[in-house]
Amino acid sequence: MSQPQVIYLKDYQVPAFLIDQTDLRFELEATKTLVKARLTMRKNPESHSQQRALFLDGDKSLVLHRVAINDQVLSDKDYSRTDDGLTIHDVPDSFVLETVTEINPQENTALEGLYRSDGFYCTQCEAEGFRRITFYLDRPDVMSVFTTTIEADKTTCPVLLSNGNAIDSGDSEGGRHWVTWEDPFRKPAYLFALVAGDLSHVEDSYTTMSGRKVVLQIFADKKDLNKLDHAMTSLKNSMRWDEEVYGREYDLDIFMIVAVDFFNMGAMENKGLNIFNTSCVLASPQTTTDLGFQRVEGVVAHEYFHNWSGNRVTCRDWFQLSLKEGFTVFRDSEFSADFNSRTVKRIEDVSVLRTAQFAEDAGPMAHPIRPSSFIEISNFYTMTIYEKGAEVVRMIHTLLGPDLFRKGSDLYFDRHDGQAVTTDDFVAAMSDASGRDFTQFKRWYEQAGTPELTVSDEYDPAAGVYTLIIQQSCPATPGQNEKLPFHLPVAVGLIDDQGADLPLTNGQTTQVLELTEAEQRFEFTGIHGDKPVPSLLRGFSAPVKLRYPYSRDELVFLMQHDSDGFNRWEASQKLGVDVLQSLTAAYQQGEPLAFDARLSEAYRSVLLDETLDPAMVAKILTLPSEAYLSELVDEIDVDAIHAARTFARQHIANALEAEFIAAYERCSSSEPYSPDADSIAKRALRNLSLAYLVETEKPQHLSLARTQFDNADNMTDSQAALGLLVHSNDEVAASEVLAIFYERWSEESLVVNQWLSVQASDPKLGTLNKVLALMDHPAFTMRNPNKVRALISAFAMQNPVNFHQLDGSGYAFLADRIIELNALNPQIASRLVTPLTRWKRYSEQRQALMKNELQRIMDSGSLSTDVYEVVSKSLV
Ligand code: ARG
Ligand code: ZN
Repeated sequence: MSQPQVIYLKDYQVPAFLIDQTDLRFELEATKTLVKARLTMRKNPESHSQQRALFLDGDKSLVLHRVAINDQVLSDKDYSRTDDGLTIHDVPDSFVLETVTEINPQENTALEGLYRSDGFYCTQCEAEGFRRITFYLDRPDVMSVFTTTIEADKTTCPVLLSNGNAIDSGDSEGGRHWVTWEDPFRKPAYLFALVAGDLSHVEDSYTTMSGRKVVLQIFADKKDLNKLDHAMTSLKNSMRWDEEVYGREYDLDIFMIVAVDFFNMGAMENKGLNIFNTSCVLASPQTTTDLGFQRVEGVVAHEYFHNWSGNRVTCRDWFQLSLKEGFTVFRDSEFSADFNSRTVKRIEDVSVLRTAQFAEDAGPMAHPIRPSSFIEISNFYTMTIYEKGAEVVRMIHTLLGPDLFRKGSDLYFDRHDGQAVTTDDFVAAMSDASGRDFTQFKRWYEQAGTPELTVSDEYDPAAGVYTLIIQQSCPATPGQNEKLPFHLPVAVGLIDDQGADLPLTNGQTTQVLELTEAEQRFEFTGIHGDKPVPSLLRGFSAPVKLRYPYSRDELVFLMQHDSDGFNRWEASQKLGVDVLQSLTAAYQQGEPLAFDARLSEAYRSVLLDETLDPAMVAKILTLPSEAYLSELVDEIDVDAIHAARTFARQHIANALEAEFIAAYERCSSSEPYSPDADSIAKRALRNLSLAYLVETEKPQHLSLARTQFDNADNMTDSQAALGLLVHSNDEVAASEVLAIFYERWSEESLVVNQWLSVQASDPKLGTLNKVLALMDHPAFTMRNPNKVRALISAFAMQNPVNFHQLDGSGYAFLADRIIELNALNPQIASRLVTPLTRWKRYSEQRQALMKNELQRIMDSGSLSTDVYEVVSKSLV
């Protein structure tokens, strides 16, 4: 195998040729689809290239039937083919290029380009899928107007969709028909989409702020038509929110969403024709959990917001991916915060960031939010590009405040509408609109790794001066040994001994300190009385790790008094971490485990305070996850962490049993299910209470879970009870509910996925054999990414105790699946490598086993660029 090529940002050059107009005709057949492309092209006046040869990207799977330039058919000496494209040796300055290419959607298991999902035809072109459809300049800075004609069998494909507006249609021979679509907006090929099949749809409309009426359609399999209301409502809310918060109006007369079951990612923002994984669009109370409802709302918003942050203004090259993804995640998380509890949303986002993204930043695939090189761009749709990218935009928002930020985003959209630009352009617009200097801030785009802040303080009561001393550093990451200091906002408050916020230098109770140096002192004057307790990094104002030597009593105090909701939760987490780390150490040393009652007492007072939002109570009473605890230590001892956390949960459950029973009852409701914030909050606390009660292993609480399972009128309650029973030691109850659940939901693919996950994530020993058996279950197929995630990823990522078994069986199982999937679906295979990339964090014994499996994958034969990149970088 030839060594895959590394692509560098520094090698960027403007395209030598442009495409003004793209006319496509698809003649759809399952195994033999003809793609006829007519490209109106010319030399790029901005290119200095003198080349007469034209190179077009094109995957080796394309079968080329015909090439013509200005109606002259070329012979095979006029061009040459390689594995990655087509070179036409000599082309004029402007010309029309025609190609006829044959592709096989039926056999496309990689789910990139044009493929079939349960009989429907659909496309996924981002990042480089269009080159699997036809020969093209498949790069985001080549933008073209598209017309697309789709011709297909009328019975199996009554619905034929592409970007823009349908402008013509008709019948053709042999029971076939065609529709022509025209997208008036210039776009890169990655935003192209085509859908065909026997789809049903719901329809609504939206009137934009300037009074234009837009038709809204959501397409899905007929049996799922009753699960589209929530997506439609979310879409209309998104359209209104983007007008109100960003002044951005929708621009076409029609907006379509299509739900497909086979999809590598969550969803895709193709112009006017978003394509979604069913898991991110279908929602009904019976089949979808509260989390699922919120995910649909967030993803619908995310893809809709891309219409401006991504489509109207797109990326110059794929190194700029965070330009659209970081900004759009920031936009969707603010949207969700506005429609739900802002603090709870922040807690959820930070939890994900601190487990998954911080781990990525500490591993062999660490990269800045604007990487400087890659082998396979599909590997860079990461937590770093998305979630850390969003945090970086959030910091700009915090530094500027909402009004200047809006001025900056207006300038960005106005200045760059219709262009393909860079993250530098985004920051320049923010800087120009605000007059602020972001030179140092831009290090966030260039340096990988999670910065660490160490905070200490001094207090001079006589002078009334309180001083915070903040030091920052950032660990080395691959290719970056030395890091320069970051510019970052640290939002702080000072709390007096009565629990009240002190007024600060800015006259407010929260002040944003701007850290720019490796070490900096910040003085607060006019502070009297006892030494205040600092509330640091309020709202998690920067994506960093922060250390301050809080005592456990101070943390209990902050849990009760901090006016910043996020930091109240953060105090509970810090206290939980401290207690769990002591327990872990005791477990490792074979000492008896002793529980610090301050934690359960603090929980008790939170649980008894009926004025608190139940969703917040549920968050505060959730111990730091095993994944987060793992992130915080140098060497991860999965068994000790699991034992410590289980011990703490049991202790808390027994100590607060009466309170949990009361909370369970208080949060029960006889109202019909509704996914509104208040009801979601109550269910969250109710199910958390049930989880603690089951932890006591008392039969009456297991019966309570069983009663809830039997009587639930919604998936949130049903699934919560299912999980508790399946993970309990009551084998009989576990197999009973699993059988009932499957029986009830075998026709609902997404629900069956939850059924698979609940089994794969069971921490009891022996789960691997159950997972192996489930791979032969009719509900499972390696070809459907949702099934792979539900079973294989759930086992490898949500079941540390079983995955990390010391006999190496979990690692070997995963490696086998990666090797298998490498041939079927490289993107999904590559994602599955993630747990093995973390080998350096485990004991020597586990390290050796994990590395062994990575090496076995490396040696297994012809690796995709996707898997090759992650495995080779992990073995360094
Ligand atoms: N742009 C899409 C989104 O964030 C994700 C597409 C990812 N595609 C891929 N091949 N990795 O909404
Ligand atoms: Zn996106």
